Amino acid sequence: MKNNPVIQTMLDHKSIRKYTNEMPSDEVIKTIVRAGQQAPFASQYYSVLLSRNKERHPYKAPLVFTICVDSHKFELIMARRNWKLLTNDLTLLMFGIQDAALMAENMVIAGRSLGLGSCFLGSALYRAEKIAEEYNLPKRVFPLVQLVMGYPAEDPPPRPRYPLEFTLFEDKYPKLDQDTISKAMQKMDKGYLAQNYYRNLSAKIPLEVDREETFTYDNYSWTEHICRKWGQWNPDPKQLLEQLEKRGFHITQKRTK
Ligand SMILES: Cc1cc2nc3c(=O)[nH]c(=O)nc-3n(C[C@H](O)[C@H](O)[C@H](O)COP(=O)(O)O)c2cc1C
Repeated sequence: MKNNPVIQTMLDHKSIRKYTNEMPSDEVIKTIVRAGQQAPFASQYYSVLLSRNKERHPYKAPLVFTICVDSHKFELIMARRNWKLLTNDLTLLMFGIQDAALMAENMVIAGRSLGLGSCFLGSALYRAEKIAEEYNLPKRVFPLVQLVMGYPAEDPPPRPRYPLEFTLFEDKYPKLDQDTISKAMQKMDKGYLAQNYYRNLSAKIPLEVDREETFTYDNYSWTEHICRKWGQWNPDPKQLLEQLEKRGFHITQKRTK
């Protein structure tokens, strides 16, 4: 199975943060998006925006896709059939995020198989209104994530993942003992340290809480990094809810007939 080219492409995945100036052809771009579209969907509840203006974005990739959850398009179809949307926006968003994510990852794999690298940018969520202005988005379209893409100017090794035993649980969710947790943490931390990943990206997250800084790039790795993200940032959902509200998604309200 190791010689299977699809599996090989998937196992060789790595996010790319340096790109050549070569612009992928229209045919390549359309093929990637077309392959993305063929992902399974609940409702094709997405749209994809494309920008070829690399100056506007980090990593200066020639292509920037913005993957949006799109209710607008769907409501136009419903109107043509003389239906009104009744399902609440939280449910729609949950399904929309799944549709959009599956589509986006298909694009990553398709791109890789054609020699292109890519990297997601998660900041779109918090820049939704700005992106909406930039791309003239109608209400009910929410920019979920951006995906920069182009021909790689670097070839890092694949990054580690948890051991399979920490991910795949058959029949019953196991009791995770300290040894299993340590092994999972060590695999991730050793793997990222061996690549000097955070040092090369200068990506140590500063401490914002009352803790003494004891980490240097010699021991700062993935588990500390994600603890600093999810242990410090965004305790209040208000900011994200506001972005959603401004885009016309009211996720705590029941829709009336
Ligand atoms: C939703 C999402 C948001 C991400 N946001 C960023 C980002 O803002 N900047 C960045 O450099 N990488 C970002 N990434 C890439 C991850 O850092 C990367 O996928 C992860 O470290 C695993 O590394 P790999 O993709 O090279 O295997 C994001 C990935 C996802 C799925």
